[in-house]
Amino acid sequence: MPVGSRPEQRSRPEQGSQGASPAGAGRLLALAHRSVQIIRANQAPSGAYLASPNFPVYRYSWLRDGAFIADAMSRAGQIASAEAFFAWCSRVLSAREARIDALIARQQAGEAIDAAEFLHARYTLDGEESGEEWTDFQLDGYGAWLWALDAHRRRHGRPVEPFLAGAVLSARYIAAFWDHPSYDWWEEHPDHRHTSTLAALYGGLVAAAGWDACPANLRAELADVAAEIRRTVVADAERLGRLPKWLGGDAVDASLVAAATPFRLLAPEDPLMTATVRAVEDELVDDGGVHRYADDTYYGGGEWLLLGGLLGWYDAEVGRTDDARARLAWIAERATPDGELPEQVPEHLLAPERLAEWERRWGPVATPLLWSHAMYLTLSLELGVVNAPVGSR
Ligand code: BGC
Repeated sequence: MPVGSRPEQRSRPEQGSQGASPAGAGRLLALAHRSVQIIRANQAPSGAYLASPNFPVYRYSWLRDGAFIADAMSRAGQIASAEAFFAWCSRVLSAREARIDALIARQQAGEAIDAAEFLHARYTLDGEESGEEWTDFQLDGYGAWLWALDAHRRRHGRPVEPFLAGAVLSARYIAAFWDHPSYDWWEEHPDHRHTSTLAALYGGLVAAAGWDACPANLRAELADVAAEIRRTVVADAERLGRLPKWLGGDAVDASLVAAATPFRLLAPEDPLMTATVRAVEDELVDDGGVHRYADDTYYGGGEWLLLGGLLGWYDAEVGRTDDARARLAWIAERATPDGELPEQVPEHLLAPERLAEWERRWGPVATPLLWSHAMYLTLSLELGVVNAPVGSR
């Protein structure tokens, strides 16, 4: 099933790499500009990014999606857009300061806290809870946006102070609760501690621990917790010689790539990481497309464009430029005629019998998905297919 999984195949351009031709290069470039346009059009005046405008349950702003979208916009030179999102995040956290303080105090007093009491994964554009039932207790976004803010600070030399109040709350919150089981990136399996979640928390804590503007005692605490997260993940990975989807398990998940790219819990060349990526390629890559995990049934378990972007970004970082370019071309070929990227495509479905039930429930696959556009933009900038600034500012 996998393509690109055996060493001798790895640098062979996969189907769709004809993006190198002048016409193909023009299309790739146009799609990067279109991505900026779509992201800007779906950013509210509040700074929140809609996950997807045409998919009812995605008409909210997720911290996780938003972190990757803001990072892509920052790379593209869209400084005001990225900072408007960081300001929105900071307001979301600051508005919940008393609640965060109370949660941390209860945790320190040894009180049990119900999953329903934690902060949510997605908010309305105005920064309110949705009021609808959702798999709300997800931690990773509270680290991911700190990572994105720090990457933005380093890239553009911008200050973190305007966002510091919320960022410090976010860092204190994840430092207190990092080892609680919570829903994963895919909003599933709430009884486990997920490696990709821990990687995002690690990335966020390392970021905030490095800020001069952060109080010194807090910086030291955040660095200690980050080191503990890393030790916990590495100790568990040593069991298998690679990262598992969750601590104590052995399943693979494509989001594990983020442990290196971008969150740097492991270096991209670390043997635990290369073994993880190899497992992702062996189990989850099919004809150039990337599945989330082997048991996926959501919309039949298709191939996710944002994961093609994530794996391509990793490939680019380790110098597998041909593979990275092939992933970019694969994504571009799945754009609608109007230049919109869906969340997933129904190719090599893992559970074809489950597609119709999701279409009946929520309609066609979310299109455009801003996170798909963000990962396309990031990979195209990483590969120099397009150079910043992208789109008018
Ligand atoms: C995905 C999440 C994502 C959300 C909004 C869900 O289907 O599993 O990772 O945050 O959609 O895009």
